[in-house]
Amino acid sequence: TTSQVSLASLELGAYSHFMQKEIYEQPKAVSDTAEIFLDAGFIAENFGENAEAVFNDIDSIKILACGTSYYAASTAKYWLESIAKIATDVEIASEYRYREVIANPKQLIITISQSGETLDTMEALKYAQAMGHKHSLSICNVMESALPRASELVVYTRAGAEIGVASTKAFTTQLVALFGLAVTLGRVRGYVDDTKLVEYTNALRSLPNDIQYALNLEPQISSWSSKFADKPSALFLGRGIHYPIALEGALKLKEITYIHAEAYPAGELKHGPLALVDENMPVVVIAPNDSLLDKVKANMQEVSARGGELFVFTDLDSDFSDSEGVHVIRTPRHIGVLSPIVHTIPVQLLSYHVALAKGTDVDKPRNLAKSVTVE
Ligand code: AGP
Repeated sequence: TTSQVSLASLELGAYSHFMQKEIYEQPKAVSDTAEIFLDAGFIAENFGENAEAVFNDIDSIKILACGTSYYAASTAKYWLESIAKIATDVEIASEYRYREVIANPKQLIITISQSGETLDTMEALKYAQAMGHKHSLSICNVMESALPRASELVVYTRAGAEIGVASTKAFTTQLVALFGLAVTLGRVRGYVDDTKLVEYTNALRSLPNDIQYALNLEPQISSWSSKFADKPSALFLGRGIHYPIALEGALKLKEITYIHAEAYPAGELKHGPLALVDENMPVVVIAPNDSLLDKVKANMQEVSARGGELFVFTDLDSDFSDSEGVHVIRTPRHIGVLSPIVHTIPVQLLSYHVALAKGTDVDKPRNLAKSVTVE
């Protein structure tokens, strides 16, 4: 009805779609979520009153989630293992549910869910608990939804309501909460000293500005959209902690443009996917100025040599140059440990602009629901 339309357009303000609005809300959503840790500090109580006891009792972590939330889990694995030195395993909830799992009562079961109502994730948690896991933690964006209610500990992201089916601000705020968990566990387990604590605190403080800088790349990114809109498929490459971000970028493109896209660890290219590469297969490379950059550059050579067109997101301070068939957009100066969060912004904007070019329904893509409460 007109009143609903006018209400929705009121909520949209100057934006054309909820997804665009939610992409632009990320500096504030990330800042609000980071406040959990910047206000109180990286203390166990942020996760529940008996969290300190739980964190001292566990010897490993299993994260269960679906879709974009599973990619947040895959990213967090790198932080939990490198910062908190705790073995972390991530698994797609709908797979875990039907596997003969070997239970470990000292393994913390973490579920990540924007809605808190995803049936596969809920049933996976119940299965884990039935198999003898006694500690659970929910990272969720909806207060008092099913998953937080079924978990021993909880931390809520402060993204605000996410209307677009394609998750954006929920993902980046999940990553903030997961980073806060990794640092907190690192403190409890004695691996994060005061120097590291200052480094991590400063990284969180500067993150909203770094995200805003990445958002300002939108005009450059939208100029690439015509290079994707008429293509049947696309490949996303990343290495290390940026491989899950390549996976998330591929999912965003699939979800809202219906272009077949997949992500690969860049080192895997020569083990098969390289056969796919030709001038009709644009290749997006997430290439931050980290320790794997030279390896990624070698992978890019493999693509260029086969006539593949490269679209590279790299940092301000890495020595790349545009050359024939290689397009480069520079995100903020390499910000180290939180780089995956910043590198998410360009792939969100890319999928959004390709969807605009294709005329697909950005906020309500075909066949999809915002919360998958069915099997
Ligand atoms: C992501 O853009 C999709 N909307 C979808 O993969 C989603 O992340 C998945 O269904 C999990 O939803 P949840 O976070 O609410 O559990």
